[in-house]
Amino acid sequence: MTRFLVRRAVPGDASALVDLARAVGSEAGGWLITDGDWRSPSEERRYLRAVRRHPHAAVIVAETPDGVVGRLSVARDPHPASEHVADLGVMVAREHRRRGIGRALMTAAEDWAREVGVRKLELHVFPSNEAALALYESLGYKREGFRRAHYRRGDELLDAILMAKEIR
Ligand SMILES: CC(C)(COP(=O)(O)OP(=O)(O)OC[C@H]1O[C@@H](n2cnc3c(N)ncnc32)[C@H](O)[C@@H]1OP(=O)(O)O)[C@@H](O)C(=O)NCCC(=O)NCCS
Repeated sequence: MTRFLVRRAVPGDASALVDLARAVGSEAGGWLITDGDWRSPSEERRYLRAVRRHPHAAVIVAETPDGVVGRLSVARDPHPASEHVADLGVMVAREHRRRGIGRALMTAAEDWAREVGVRKLELHVFPSNEAALALYESLGYKREGFRRAHYRRGDELLDAILMAKEIR
């Protein structure tokens, strides 16, 4: 069992979060839209500072005694007609997977959604990402659509599955 704490990110997490995103983004599975490229630590710090002042978005991290090993970002849709919807993205360091961290981050996102009045959480996932699909399905996310050639990564246009969950 890994002991971990789930908490809101602080600007001091910037370097660890950049390292995490670059490591996960460089994995051969191509799980993320980015392929190892990410904000710089100073851009990340600015972003984290802005998010803490912003009630419509949150960055949640999982921390073990080894440091920050998981991240979830969630942001409310800016359009007034869909401001009850928020979009999320999640990642866990490879060596800490399958220990409940992804699930705990997703649960924290649901808590955030209830706090701020978000009624629906949505996300995109690549069809080959069996781990993420299994995680989302186990939490009650349903497939709402198939987005053809929706994301550009390098020269490729990638399909994605749109999933969502109603938050009560
Ligand atoms: C998807 C991801 C966030 C899951 O994080 P995690 O901490 O390993 O997930 P958890 O340990 O909380 O798993 C919860 C449940 O999800 C399912 N699951 C997670 N990984 C799985 C896998 N590799 N195979 C099958 N089911 C899996 C299981 O139902 C699991 O419960 P169980 O372990 O009791 O069987 C992680 O694999 C990851 O960061 N992958 C790379 C980045 C990524 O794909 N992000 C999502 C982009 S859409």
